[in-house]
Amino acid sequence: MNTFKLILGIESSCDETGIALYDNDLGLLCHTLHSQVALHDEYGGVVPELASRDHVQYILPLIIKALQQAGKSLQEIDAIAYTQGPGLSGALLVGASVGSSLAYSLGIPSIGIHHLEGHLLSPLLSTPAPAFPFVALLVSGGHTQLMRVDGTGKYTLLGETLDDAAGEAFDKSAKLLGLSYPGGAELSRLAEGGRPGRFRFPRPMLHSGDLDFSFSGLKTAVLNACNQNLLNESVRADIASEAQAAIVEVLTTKTILALKQTGLNRLVIAGGVGANRLLRATLDNAGKQYGFNVFYPDLQFCTDNGAMIAYAGAMRLKIQKANEHYQFNVMPRWDLQSLNIA
Ligand code: KG4
Ligand code: ZN
Repeated sequence: MNTFKLILGIESSCDETGIALYDNDLGLLCHTLHSQVALHDEYGGVVPELASRDHVQYILPLIIKALQQAGKSLQEIDAIAYTQGPGLSGALLVGASVGSSLAYSLGIPSIGIHHLEGHLLSPLLSTPAPAFPFVALLVSGGHTQLMRVDGTGKYTLLGETLDDAAGEAFDKSAKLLGLSYPGGAELSRLAEGGRPGRFRFPRPMLHSGDLDFSFSGLKTAVLNACNQNLLNESVRADIASEAQAAIVEVLTTKTILALKQTGLNRLVIAGGVGANRLLRATLDNAGKQYGFNVFYPDLQFCTDNGAMIAYAGAMRLKIQKANEHYQFNVMPRWDLQSLNIA
């Protein structure tokens, strides 16, 4: 396969427009980001139509800004990687159409990237980068999965959530506590002032013996606690603290089991919930206790960004043919394992 030196990455699957330039020899040159959090805040969640329109507004200015930051011209780009799915179809179409049109006008190839592959590979942008194989805990707003990763395009699903994602559990609990969307980071800040042990929420499937998760019951427990107590500041903090403790305990227990079952000793945490401080501290401690190393993406690359898409694009172009026909589609639902290289 060809190696393309300079890759432009475009992320627009949900509520962040992210652009980056990755150089195969020099690494990440720059990245620019526009978050729509303020836009969706008053609706308590992402409004797909507004998300698409906002991506349209920001995508080209962010590309221009990224080129300026890196001191590069459009003509120096060798290939364009855009998020093809999963995500909101209208939002994905913005990145896919801009990426494909730009590639066509420059006469260079484009490639559609799986958003979760971007998250999975994002810790490889940091130093030290984990070597393959590793276990990845993918914890984002829409996904909670444990994966065995043997290389780019070599993914085995070990377990996943049967209902809500961990990020969703954070966000729904946060909403019940009156925090603004998306809520995960705010809930964890509120939890810092809470007293552990005042509430006790369920840890579903903790001892199920498999690597699957379930978080929907937690929302009900948080709802009941909110309804049954006077929600002053200290009670809210105590509820937040217990909600966070429950999510982190389940994630940690299943992750340790995945490492035991696979016999691997490298763990990668990817996705927005990977920014959670309690989760990081708990997994770091478990690593010391059980003898595994934990790798995280840079904090700024835990949540959605263009850098992980540019990087995944660079890696994919080494093992897969680029799209040179400029016909594109988006995949709002897309199984990562369907991309596996034999
Ligand atoms: O990976 P991401 O940016 O988007 C998706 O692909 O879904 O993840 C967003 C999720 C949200 O649910 C957000 O609340 C959560 O990550 N999140 C956190 C923290 N920072 C972001 N959850 C817990 N603690 C945090 N510090
Ligand atoms: Zn994401």
